[in-house]
Amino acid sequence: MKTYNIAVLAGDGIGPEVMAEALKVLDAVSQKFAFAVKTQSALVGGAAIDAHGEALPAATLELCKQSDAILFGSVGGPKWTSLPPAQQPERASLLPLRKTFDLFCNLRPGKIYPAFADLSPIHPRTSSLGMDILCVRELTGGIYFGEKGRTDTAAFDTQTYSVAEIERIARVAFEAAGKRSNKVTSIDKANVLATSVLWREVVSRIAKDYPAVALDHMYIDNAAMQLIRSPQQFDVLLCDNLFGDILSDELAAIAGSLGLLPSASLNGSNFGLYEPAGGSAPDIAGQGIANPVAQILSAALLLRFSCGEEAAARAIETAVEQSLEQGIVTRDINPAAGYNTRDIGDAIVRFIQAA
Ligand code: NAD
Ligand code: IPM
Ligand code: MN
Repeated sequence: MKTYNIAVLAGDGIGPEVMAEALKVLDAVSQKFAFAVKTQSALVGGAAIDAHGEALPAATLELCKQSDAILFGSVGGPKWTSLPPAQQPERASLLPLRKTFDLFCNLRPGKIYPAFADLSPIHPRTSSLGMDILCVRELTGGIYFGEKGRTDTAAFDTQTYSVAEIERIARVAFEAAGKRSNKVTSIDKANVLATSVLWREVVSRIAKDYPAVALDHMYIDNAAMQLIRSPQQFDVLLCDNLFGDILSDELAAIAGSLGLLPSASLNGSNFGLYEPAGGSAPDIAGQGIANPVAQILSAALLLRFSCGEEAAARAIETAVEQSLEQGIVTRDINPAAGYNTRDIGDAIVRFIQAA
């Protein structure tokens, strides 16, 4: 039987609560599709700071290196914001993991599911037309990783992009669009930023290798507006690190909740890190009410991209759609539905078993 070794880093806040549901679902599909998932958990983020004094202990990193993929929850929270910035959970665990494994490509698929188009915060006239967007976000460059500095009276962050960094993420976007609706919208701020001027030039040049795919360029401010006005116009959004971070939260909100948006962070090999686009949600942590769907769909992406278990990935996605269609949703989507985190995982497992 095929066995996949998965490092499970649940992290902080709602991380452990939603991770428990994703692990239930992984267990259910592995039985159904006859493969084995060997999960090993390790501390990361604030939880690791509390236990070991550092956000990414050597043992956690070593486990990741020995694994086929990482299933990640979320890190950070108010408890750790008074630490020096460089020691905080986000900067000292998640960003180094992305960099260490060269996870330059972050895929964030956002969908409006027809069954609850009316729960999207955008106008029903627009949401009823649906949405199916793949955000392709550059994840290891740009302002996140540029030189930073701080004096008593000022601070700075720098953004650098090389041609090679833009080329490799652009190719991912064009290849993905070729398997979808053949349209890439590249997001930038080329009317202000030097990196965006280069971004636009390189993306336009790479586009010539993909003649079947239409390319548009759009400024980030207009894109933020167009996404709400008419998300149907988009297929693949190609974004730098910061713009992709911001637009993907917007995508999630349009879809109905940040708790729905999964992500895959890839480096061109089978290895990957899979995590919800949202964070540790300190405002609802510990109450058992967080939406586990983004974590569960991240596990589906892990099976697809790191294990090649496409049928199992689809089975999870279908079961998620069924539970959404039947109104089995947490209160971030429908406060009146009355379901908790565990109910969602249980329902998805039942749909998988019944299929
Ligand atoms: P957040 O994404 O944690 O929460 C924003 C809002 O969305 C909150 O109201 C929260 O309750 C809601 N939300 C998010 N996920 C949800 C879910 N699964 N179900 C229901 N509601 C959900 O963003 P924030 O409040 O800005 O950040 C909190 C902490 O999380 C910060 O420390 C931040 O740095 C961190 N963060 C971590 C990651 C990560 O680890 N990948 C991602 C984003 C933010
Ligand atoms: C995300 C998060 C992270 C990011 C933070 C926690 C560093 O917001 O994955 O979207 O900005 O990339
Ligand atoms: Mn984000």
